[in-house]
Amino acid sequence: MLRYQKAHQNCRPAHGILPAGNRKGLWNMAYKRTEIDEKEIARQRDICARISAENAGLPERPLALVDTYGCQQNEEDSERLRGYLAEMGFGFTRDENAAEVVVVNTCAIREHAEMRVLGNVGALVHAKKRNPRLVVAVCGCMVQQPHMAEKLKKSFRVVDLAFGPHQLWRFPELYDRARAHRERVFQCGPSEGVVAEGVPAARDGKVKAWLSVMYGCNNFCTYCVVPSVRGRERSRKPEDVVAEARELVAAGYKDITLLGQNVNSYGRDLPDGVDFAGLIRQINAIPGDFLIRFMTSHPRDATETLFKTMAECEKCAKQLHLPVQSGSDRVLRAMNRHYDRAKYMELIACARRYMPDLVVTTDIIVGFPGETEADFEETIRLVEQVRYDAMFTFIYSPRVGTPAAAMPDPVTREEKQSWFDKLVETANAISAEKHRAYEGKTLRVLVDGETERGEYNLSARTNGGRLVHLRGDTGLVGSFVSARIVSSGTWALYGEII
Ligand code: SAH
Ligand code: SF4
Ligand code: F3S
Repeated sequence: MLRYQKAHQNCRPAHGILPAGNRKGLWNMAYKRTEIDEKEIARQRDICARISAENAGLPERPLALVDTYGCQQNEEDSERLRGYLAEMGFGFTRDENAAEVVVVNTCAIREHAEMRVLGNVGALVHAKKRNPRLVVAVCGCMVQQPHMAEKLKKSFRVVDLAFGPHQLWRFPELYDRARAHRERVFQCGPSEGVVAEGVPAARDGKVKAWLSVMYGCNNFCTYCVVPSVRGRERSRKPEDVVAEARELVAAGYKDITLLGQNVNSYGRDLPDGVDFAGLIRQINAIPGDFLIRFMTSHPRDATETLFKTMAECEKCAKQLHLPVQSGSDRVLRAMNRHYDRAKYMELIACARRYMPDLVVTTDIIVGFPGETEADFEETIRLVEQVRYDAMFTFIYSPRVGTPAAAMPDPVTREEKQSWFDKLVETANAISAEKHRAYEGKTLRVLVDGETERGEYNLSARTNGGRLVHLRGDTGLVGSFVSARIVSSGTWALYGEII
């Protein structure tokens, strides 16, 4: 505990930015880690090898389609699914009519996400008519909800295989059963969650990589489905995370985003006392020219130690995604967020004292049950005070089984929409102003891809993660370059390479 007492006193507000370590003992009691034995993963990979040998005998390499919805953690899960599929000898396609297996990795965060998934899964009947051998698998967060698993079972006969996030590590075994088409395989039962090391990954890009440091969530925000579908918080061991970061750096990745629903509580379930700031320091010490980003930080657990670490670690991007959700204390209480507006503003001020050029982004929910226009106006005022570089805004969507879904919600959809539009307008004006301030400046940016935009053929990111459109040789993808910003818009900067 001593190491926290050295913290920068000026930044500590009266009501305290609680160091994450203080709650450690208490939290430990709530944890139940289930680690999947490496022999189990080896068995899954043996199944892949057997399927691969069969696929090698086919006249053409069979193709798989993995369709992903939801957050970065789901993107990373899909990379693991593709890793297994690649080991089974599959190539990849975007065309469901060319595929032998379609995996839809779903999200349950809002109703809209679920509706899109159901529409697209339903439409797979046409592909299945053309190719009766096609295996349709649906996995991810949506499937982990019992009512949705039931719906898929009853009303979506096209689905051969359904499994929740806790079963992903044994996809080869489940796929092997489903492809025989003798039974429909549904593995969506409840679980506290697992930690599985050694699942292969076929990553999407060559420059940016996701790296999960923990899974699950213990926060139980009253509107949110994640804790019930992703299970309790489980941290990967620091040596496993650091070893994977080393592999990524050795493979040439330049932009590594550490993922967790609440990275600030990393390590609380581990015996050796490492916290998220300590993990950043360990990754920062890996030799090489690369950037470390992370998401998401919950304001409840964000600490001064974290900001100090970010400032001191030269590879850590000066970018903080700190979802506030609402500017009203009353709404924050009803959301069970465990901080108030004053603590949030103090955190932002503290972070900016350590990193004056910090890029700050957030998530906001509009129209939480019982939110009034006065509450909403407080959110607008908070946004104007913080001046976010970018925001992700959502209209509240009731989720089955969450406490908020049972709260009275008298405000009409039209009114919520008008609040939402006002918030987006405010946010966009601030983003555009902040982007204008980059004009004329020369920055070090990472070229991360090619684009189809006529004049500008390269995309790049600033250290703080802002998008920059550039012109140049496509051989620069994966390099850090100096760029002078010549113009800007709400979403992006435009520059020339120097
Ligand atoms: N763990 C992250 C957020 C993950 S979900 C965190 O706590 O910061 C991403 C965002 O989706 C949330 O920050 C929230 O703004 C939004 N969200 C979650 N549940 C929602 C719901 N039921 N309706 C609308 N937006 C929601
Ligand atoms: Fe959901 Fe809250 Fe957990 Fe984020 S912290 S995943 S919003 S319950
Ligand atoms: Fe969606 Fe699951 Fe992520 S609900 S936002 S895919 S954790």
